[in-house]
Parts: sequence; C-alpha cells; structure tokens
Amino acid sequence: MTQRVRMGMVGGGPGAFIGEVHRLAADIAGGIELVSGAFSRDAEASRAFGAELGLSPARACGSWAELFEAERALPEDERMQCVSIVTPNDSHADISCAALAAGFHVICDKPAAGVLEDALRMQQAVTDSGRLFGLTHTYTGYPMVIEARERIAAGELGEIRRVAVSYLQDWLSREEDTQGSKQASWRNDPARAGESGAFADIGSHAFNLVEFMTGRRVARLAAQLRSVIDGRVIDDDGGALFELDNGAAGMISASQVCTGAINALRIEIYGSEASLHWFQEEPNRMSLKRRGEPEQVLRPGAGVPYLSEPALAVCRTPGGHPEGYIEAFANLYQAFAADVRAFPAAPAQPRGYATIEDGVAAMRFIRAARLSSEADSAWTALDGVENAAR
Ligand SMILES: NC(=O)c1ccc[n+]([C@@H]2O[C@H](COP(=O)([O-])OP(=O)(O)OC[C@H]3O[C@@H](n4cnc5c(N)ncnc54)[C@H](O)[C@@H]3O)[C@@H](O)[C@H]2O)c1
Repeated sequence: MTQRVRMGMVGGGPGAFIGEVHRLAADIAGGIELVSGAFSRDAEASRAFGAELGLSPARACGSWAELFEAERALPEDERMQCVSIVTPNDSHADISCAALAAGFHVICDKPAAGVLEDALRMQQAVTDSGRLFGLTHTYTGYPMVIEARERIAAGELGEIRRVAVSYLQDWLSREEDTQGSKQASWRNDPARAGESGAFADIGSHAFNLVEFMTGRRVARLAAQLRSVIDGRVIDDDGGALFELDNGAAGMISASQVCTGAINALRIEIYGSEASLHWFQEEPNRMSLKRRGEPEQVLRPGAGVPYLSEPALAVCRTPGGHPEGYIEAFANLYQAFAADVRAFPAAPAQPRGYATIEDGVAAMRFIRAARLSSEADSAWTALDGVENAAR
C-alpha cells in the first residue's frame, strides 16, 4: 500500500479562495493526508477551522510558528512531512524559510514571494535545508500543456520564432471590485501583494507557461504596466515585448480589467515547421497547425495513442471525458507527494511541478517588467536584474 504523506497547511481558512482547491487537489491525487494546519492570522478562527476540517485539537494551531513547533515535537513517523502554503504573497518567504529550517518540505502557491529579494532568500533556504520545494503553477499540470512541451522538445515545431501569450480577466474591472472582497483587497495592496499587481498575480503564470512549454528562457523584455482603474495603487493591466534566449520574439499581456474576459489564458507558439495553440478555458483541446494543411486537434485521455508518455501519465480519465482545473492541480500534488515519499532519494526528473528556480525566474520577470515600465519601456535583461537600482 502507498505510504500516505502527512501534510500541514498554512492559510486557506474561512472564505479563502485557493486553500480549498489545494485540499481538493491533494484528495484527488490520493496518498496525502491533511494532518495539521494554521489556517488564519486570527488564532481562534484558525483553531475553529481546523476542527471543522476534522483535525485533532492539538494539531489545529493558532499560528504557523506554533504549528512548526508542535509538529517538530512529535515522533518522526507522526509529524507532518510537508506543508502547503496558501497565504497572500508577502508571507510566503517567512513561512517557507521557517518551515524548511524546521525540516519540512514546502509546496507553496505562486508567485514565490512578494519581492524578488524574498524569493532569493527562499532559494537559499531550499539549498541550505536540502528539502523539497514545489511551486503550484497550476497550468503546467494539464496534459495538453505537457504534450506541448514534449512535442516542442522533440523538434516538431522546428525552430521557435514567436510566442503570443495573454492572461486576461475582468474581475477587477470596476472601481468597487476592491471593496469588500478579501481576495481583491490584498491584491491591490503593495505591502501584501508585492511589487506588482496583475503582472505578478497572473502574468507570472503566463511567463511560467512560456518557459515551461518552449523549454527556453525569457532573456529580456520591454514592458508597460498601468493602473487603469481610479484608486488602484498597483498595476491592473500590462503588456510586454520579450525575447527568448534563442532570439525568438514574444508578446505577453496580463490584465484584470479586460471586460468580458473570465480566465482567458491563451498561448500560441510558432516555429519554422508548425504552431501550437492552447486556451485554458478549453483545456482539453490543443491545435497543431502546419502551412497548407488542415488543423489537427489533439485531446487528452488515458490510452490515446498519439500522446507522449509524460502527457499520458497525467491523464486521469478515458478520452472524451473532460478533465480540468482541479485535476491539473492534483497532478502537481501527485508528483510532489511522490518526491516526498522517495526523499532523501533525488526527485523524479523532470519535476512534475515548478521549483524555486522557476519561482525566482518569475520574480526576475516581474522586477524587470516594473523597472522597464518605469523607464518608459526600456529593454531590460532578466539576468542580474536584482542588482539594478529598484
Ligand atoms: N495557482 C493559482 O492558480 C492561484 C489562484 C489563486 C491564488 N493563488 C495564490 O494563492 C495565494 C492565496 O491567494 P487566495 O486568493 O487564496 O487568498 P485569500 O485571501 O482568499 O486567502 C488567504 C488565506 O490565508 C490566510 N492567512 C493570511 N495570513 C496568514 C498567516 N500569517 N497565517 C495563517 N493564515 C494566513 C487568510 O486568513 C486566508 O484564509 C496567493 O499567493 C495567490 O497568488 C494561486
């Protein structure tokens, strides 16, 4: 029988958005048991919520510091092995570093941190502790996204020439949207969201998808970030030209004020031989197009004969039975839990989830975009951007 991985959680309390998705995903992944947590900054609310989830009172803690101390005191075969961090961006670094130093593996939501320096601190903590760190860039858990990576790596598209990626939403498109919404209010507060708004919140996903699918690095960019809605103190809309390390060109946009867009993450990758097209709101189809030939539509499904092994490995249902967001999240949890189970053996390659290096890369992208925008869209390199004046 598969040994169950004992997991704790920080954040994801009453009324939170993504914590519940993480718990569902861990359930679907299987072989993971939520044993403890600190779910809110309010100690009483945190304990009460832990009780609602069925945790024993001793393991429903009032704060993350209390959680790590209580778990450390338990025998090794009882204490949590990893902790899921689903708090707002500004607290990811302190909580992750403390968890890693206490010997726990960490799976944390994106962006890695509020500011680049904190992400670099987390990277150091991962190295120093030797523990596992996973970042939940949800979209890399979709079978079609993995299939794209495999086909591009195998050269099916030829030399990559251009990438067009956009992540557009409208849930912050009105002035009143930041009032009375827990999720919206911290996202509009630089002290909690960090150095960017929409570009960090969803632009980081789009950036990660480009690097994941193409297998290339974004080398430099020229960005324009804007606060469109009155009263916004952080970007709610932005775009950038970028260049990949093979010289390919790209355009990225990330906006939360695009009326009519719900969760419109779309990517198109053009090579010398063919192009791939994927739209997150219809995740179970991906188009492959070649000049002068009819469009080919690729779909996921267990046993579908034209899919690569890595894509097949994350298909949960037979062909024609749609899989979606929670399953994609579950694929990240499944891969992370397998690495935790195997620890201290080296993690499986390629990793089935984003790493702290991916998180730092996204934070460099965010910093470069902000600096570029402040310098009237000047081209800005990502490498070493932490050394540029802020
Ligand atoms: N992967 C994705 O697609 C995705 C989607 C949404 C959000 N996120 C990320 O998830 C994180 C949380 O976002 P959200 O929308 O769920 O926020 P949220 O405001 O809905 O929930 C945050 C939760 O954390 C708790 N919390 C805050 N500080 C805490 C502390 N010090 N100790 C314990 N609990 C604490 C809050 O009480 C709340 O329950 C953010 O970093 C966000 O960027 C990722």
